[in-house]
Amino acid sequence: MPTPEETEVQIEQSQNESQTEPSQQTESKTETPAEEVVTCASPGCDKPAKLQCPTCVKYGGSTRFCGQECFKANWAVHSRSHPEMRARAEFTPPLIEYTGPLRPAYVTPRMKITDPKIKKPDYAETGEPISERTSRAGRIAPVYTKDEIDGIRAAAKLTREALDFSCTMIKPGVTTDEIDRETHKFIVSRGGYPSPLNYHGFPKSICTSINEVICHGIPDCRPLEEGDIINIDVSVYLNGFHGDCNETHPVGKVDFESLRLLKGSFDSLEAALKLVKPNTLFRDFGEAVSHSIAKHKYSSVRSYCGHGIGHLFHGAPNIPHYARNKATGACKPGMIFCIEPMINAGDWKDTHWADDWTATTVDGKRSVQYEHTILCTETGYELLSARTEKSKKHWWEMPEYKDELAKYNEFINKK
Ligand code: MF3
Ligand code: CO
Repeated sequence: MPTPEETEVQIEQSQNESQTEPSQQTESKTETPAEEVVTCASPGCDKPAKLQCPTCVKYGGSTRFCGQECFKANWAVHSRSHPEMRARAEFTPPLIEYTGPLRPAYVTPRMKITDPKIKKPDYAETGEPISERTSRAGRIAPVYTKDEIDGIRAAAKLTREALDFSCTMIKPGVTTDEIDRETHKFIVSRGGYPSPLNYHGFPKSICTSINEVICHGIPDCRPLEEGDIINIDVSVYLNGFHGDCNETHPVGKVDFESLRLLKGSFDSLEAALKLVKPNTLFRDFGEAVSHSIAKHKYSSVRSYCGHGIGHLFHGAPNIPHYARNKATGACKPGMIFCIEPMINAGDWKDTHWADDWTATTVDGKRSVQYEHTILCTETGYELLSARTEKSKKHWWEMPEYKDELAKYNEFINKK
């Protein structure tokens, strides 16, 4: 808590910046409903709140105090939230040509990890994953030892738990910024580092890709809207190993065409997974994905591929998700990689927002993705990021969607 002198100084300074110093304030005229007794925001004060901070009012905030005394006493601390509130309120999307209705919103400041016990990847401070360029695993898919496999299995398990946690937050009104912050805390509290954070400078801890966003959407202050679809992509670095998985889910009630795109995309990943066993060529996964989506007349994104994972976030092998690709190499027991097809309702081509991360469809139609971390075994594969009973149900697993599922199956059976 600041001393009284410090508080005075803070108020003085704020007076120079704006006209919102406490002494000029009148009692709030906004009526608070009788049932909803809002108490003073001053810690330890539970008197009813009558005075609204005028700066907060201006920027759409809602902090209230019981009166001048608590307002003044808390000014130093409280006013620290104003610059960000202002930036958020004054944010306007960059003037570029957007391909669909979605727009970027304010991105909150980067989260910092101070706990020295959290092992960080090489790019955590600099943004440059040097080991991805210099190590052999960047060029030749490694066969991992039993201990390494156990390490990647543990990382992928925490990744799954974090993805399941983040998916519980999907509902109208929640911002992707909130989902990012809570998922960040979830990962760090369990000893992990959120792999996307500062990877090539990525500003957040997870990727959230909504509607026409193909991948690498940056969590921001836009509240989710009923009818959206959202992909949450979670990656975790734990004790020297990465795990990576993602899923797409509806926000509230969504149109049938989006539901069909969700299941059609999910099925295309399943089709690729079925092939994972020793000697399968990496180029064959793209054939399976393309064949699976052909009946829907969807397209598969070409600019982003699946990848080897382990010591590196992204290493060999490279796994394209489209037919007639030229990927080299074949699966061997002990190899670990991610398959993550991005399926578009329309054109396969992608373009980018001004942030240079957010990849969207060129026609503004929706795109859906699912991803797993997969270990090739002697006989087939083990899903290191496998779903559990705790995982958010897909729409086709929910009884309330039985009519839509019947309609989906009818569509498939006619093909
Ligand atoms: N699963 C995503 C991928 O493999 C994770 C991207 S993290 C980012 O591309 F930092 F690159 F965005
Ligand atoms: Co990935």
